[in-house]
Amino acid sequence: MKVAIHHNPHSFSDRWIKYCEKEKIEYRLVNAFDSNIVEQLKGYDIFMWHHHHAQYKDVLTAKRILFALEHAGIKVFPDFKTGWHFDDKVAQKYLLEAIEAPLVPSYVFYDKKQALNWAKQIKYPKVFKLKGGAGASNVKLVRSYSQATALINTAFGRGFAQFDRLGYFKERFNKFKSGKDTFIGVLKGFARIFIIPKFAKQLPAERGYIYFQEFIPNNDSDIRVIIIGDKAFAIKRMIRENDFRASGSGNIVYDKNEINESCIQLAFEVNNKIKSLCTAFDFVLYNGRPLIVEISYGFTSLAYDLCPGYWDENLIWHEDEFNPQFWIMENLRKEIVK
Ligand SMILES: Nc1ncnc2c1ncn2[C@@H]1O[C@H](COP(=O)(O)OP(=O)(O)OP(=O)(O)O)[C@@H](O)[C@H]1O
Ligand SMILES: [Mg+2]
Repeated sequence: MKVAIHHNPHSFSDRWIKYCEKEKIEYRLVNAFDSNIVEQLKGYDIFMWHHHHAQYKDVLTAKRILFALEHAGIKVFPDFKTGWHFDDKVAQKYLLEAIEAPLVPSYVFYDKKQALNWAKQIKYPKVFKLKGGAGASNVKLVRSYSQATALINTAFGRGFAQFDRLGYFKERFNKFKSGKDTFIGVLKGFARIFIIPKFAKQLPAERGYIYFQEFIPNNDSDIRVIIIGDKAFAIKRMIRENDFRASGSGNIVYDKNEINESCIQLAFEVNNKIKSLCTAFDFVLYNGRPLIVEISYGFTSLAYDLCPGYWDENLIWHEDEFNPQFWIMENLRKEIVK
């Protein structure tokens, strides 16, 4: 078995490399951006790339390369079913509706008049989101028709920057206040108001569509469940103070008893329909029932190292250390042997 890996330091690839070394698997690090990458990968069984939403070249072309290689019969990670909807909440809306999964009711408009008509008739608040981004950076509560119209005008006018400079500064300042960031961090946040990071400059403005979700009230947290094959692990993320958003708050609960098991069950069921190799599901609860907020194949490895164990498909708990990136590789290996 021959494995090729596009290595992004601090991504899943750190651990994929470790796995190959531990298991004495023949592997090579490749640069997926080489024009002849398809040629280079002839004879390989597996190609893996943990591409990232905040790396411009990844966003531009990772999916194309991966899915083209899939046509060549190479097992890729993330494959099409795992990754086509990555960092695209609008794509996820269509996917989850298509498989009749319980998604937070979501609305998208590609026409300004239609959006304004809708905004006139609905009850507030609603949640506005850009299709991409993480850490809740592009997620806002819309409390009134006038706020909604302002957003609609921007969406069908100059558009939104994917990097919210003021929001980033506020986030660092609030984290500093609650002891989760340093004063230097706040200064860096302040500097970012004027000096936009390179990736953000390259990303085009988000325009020509607008996306809203129903606001699901009374959640002091969201539950993130990650499914890899027949195993699941989960964390609870507490919301920020005076806010409704959990992801990116840095306040994580690892206690198994804090995780609503119906989220685990549902995540297994939905993942079986999506047929994804790895999915992180974000849930909020509505009258005790889990609703999906969004899904993603990628996540920050380090945040899950403190998970005390995992569930199997029969919802049996295994209190044990584990390595999700190893699981991904083990599952791909099994596919090759089949
Ligand atoms: N419709 C909703 N109703 C209530 N709370 C919501 C809703 N949508 C999002 N949230 C809260 O806001 C947070 C951020 O939303 P979301 O997960 O859509 O954004 P994100 O930036 O893509 O996050 P991630 O870092 O998980 O990728 C969630 O963790 C959840 O706590
Ligand atoms: Mg999320």
